[in-house]
Amino acid sequence: MSSPLEILADMAKYVDSSKRSFLISAFAIAFNPTFWNIVARREHRTRFLTRFFGSAQTGCYALAITIFSLGLIRDFLYERALRDQASHPLLQGELPTYAGYALIALGNLFVITSTWQLGITGTFLGDYFGILMDSMVTGFPFNVTNAPMYYGSTMSFLGTALVYGKPAGIALTSWVLFVYMVAIEFENPFTSGIYAKREKERAKAKGEGKKEL
Ligand SMILES: *[C@@H]1O[C@H](CO)[C@@H](O)[C@H](O)[C@H]1NC(C)=O
Repeated sequence: MSSPLEILADMAKYVDSSKRSFLISAFAIAFNPTFWNIVARREHRTRFLTRFFGSAQTGCYALAITIFSLGLIRDFLYERALRDQASHPLLQGELPTYAGYALIALGNLFVITSTWQLGITGTFLGDYFGILMDSMVTGFPFNVTNAPMYYGSTMSFLGTALVYGKPAGIALTSWVLFVYMVAIEFENPFTSGIYAKREKERAKAKGEGKKEL
């Protein structure tokens, strides 16, 4: 019986990271959050999308469509990369396949329910456009994890790796998780700042309202 470490070392032999499709997929995975953070911060600073599209709402929808499309391209490139890689015997058979489909289903449940809870502008960086949520969303899936989009997406990647039976998919999923964790570290303080500013303004408005009484 091999140890988990030996299994992992064996799996690594099935990952050909020199394949072009693998590198392109890894690039696409890192590109998307980089792209939306650069664009959203620029919007927050200069309002360039709001001005170009005539309103914050329309600008945010345009960004949402762009991010969604980039996500589809990234998913396509990921599956193409997996088809170029070797399958591992341990990942073939019914159990990994069913586990894979279960992960994809759970991942999609997280992504779809959180989009449902937040709405389009809440999901796609509306706060950078000045479209703020009235209050924090705390219902499912936000009572299970604070970043259901990111963890849901990661689960779908892992599920796909298992359905294909490809260790390379597990390697790329680790990369997805790493990229998302960096994104969370980068995004959370910024959005917290946006909301803190709103709370300060609200408190100030309230104070001024009292003075007038
Ligand atoms: C999260 O909320 C859902 C729906 O309200 C509920 O069914 C579930 O038990 C909650 N989960 C946790 C961990 O609190």
